[in-house]
Amino acid sequence: MKIININCQEVIQNRRSIRKYKPDEVSAENLENIIEAARLAPSGTNRQPWRFVLLNGKEEKEKIAGAVIQPFVLDAPVVFVCCLDRQAYTRGLVEKRMKELVQSNVISEEAAGYIYQRKMPDKTGDVVIPASAYIDLGIAVEQMVLMATALGLGSCWVRLFNPQQVHKALNLPENIEVVALLPVGYPAEKPSPRPRLNRDEIMIESK
Ligand SMILES: Cc1cc2nc3c(=O)[nH]c(=O)nc-3n(C[C@H](O)[C@H](O)[C@H](O)COP(=O)(O)O)c2cc1C
Repeated sequence: MKIININCQEVIQNRRSIRKYKPDEVSAENLENIIEAARLAPSGTNRQPWRFVLLNGKEEKEKIAGAVIQPFVLDAPVVFVCCLDRQAYTRGLVEKRMKELVQSNVISEEAAGYIYQRKMPDKTGDVVIPASAYIDLGIAVEQMVLMATALGLGSCWVRLFNPQQVHKALNLPENIEVVALLPVGYPAEKPSPRPRLNRDEIMIESK
C-alpha cells in the first residue's frame, strides 16, 4: 500500500473535496484499501449496514448519468455508490451481530438480552431505516475519504443527485437504499482550505 501521508493530522488537514480529476485509473490495490477502510468502520451494535457499488470506468459510470446533477462526478475514473442495507436491521441479523459481540466479550449476555427484547422487524420490508444507520454509513464513507487522501487520491461526498434513479439504473434490490455518491480519482486541482467556523463558534459553554 502506497501511503502518501502517514500522519493522521496531515491527512485531515490535506483533505479537500475534489471536483476536478485526472483521467488516470485508480489501481485495484488502492480501491481495495479504500473498501477496507469502510469495512473497518465502527457502527452501532456492530450492525455494519453500509453497502457499496463500485462503478469503475466509463461504461459503468454511464449507467448513472441520468441521475447525476454535477457533471464532475462522472469525470472521476471511479464512483462508489454508498448505500444502506435494510436487512441489517432485521431481527435475524441483529441477533447474529449480538452473538458475535457476546462471544468476543464486547457485551454481556445480560446486555444482549435487553436488545433481544426490543421490537424488531423480522422482514426487510417492515424495516424503517433508523437515524443511527446514516451515522454509521457517514463514518464508513469518511474513512474511505481519508484513506483516499492518504493514498494521494481525491474524492468528494455527493448528495446532490437522484438516489431513486441510481437505484433503478443499477437494478439494486429492494432492501438497498442509495444514500451518497463518492467519486474518487487523482486530483487535477489543488484547492485552498475552505471556510470553517472558528473554534469558539463550535464549542458551547455549559452554564
Ligand atoms: C454529506 C455531504 C454531502 C455533500 N454533498 C455534496 C454535493 O452534492 N456536491 C458537492 O459538490 N459537494 C458536496 N459536499 C462537499 C461539501 O460541499 C464540502 O465538504 C464543503 O464545502 C467543505 O469543503 P471541503 O470538503 O473541501 O473542506 C458534501 C459534503 C458532505 C459531507
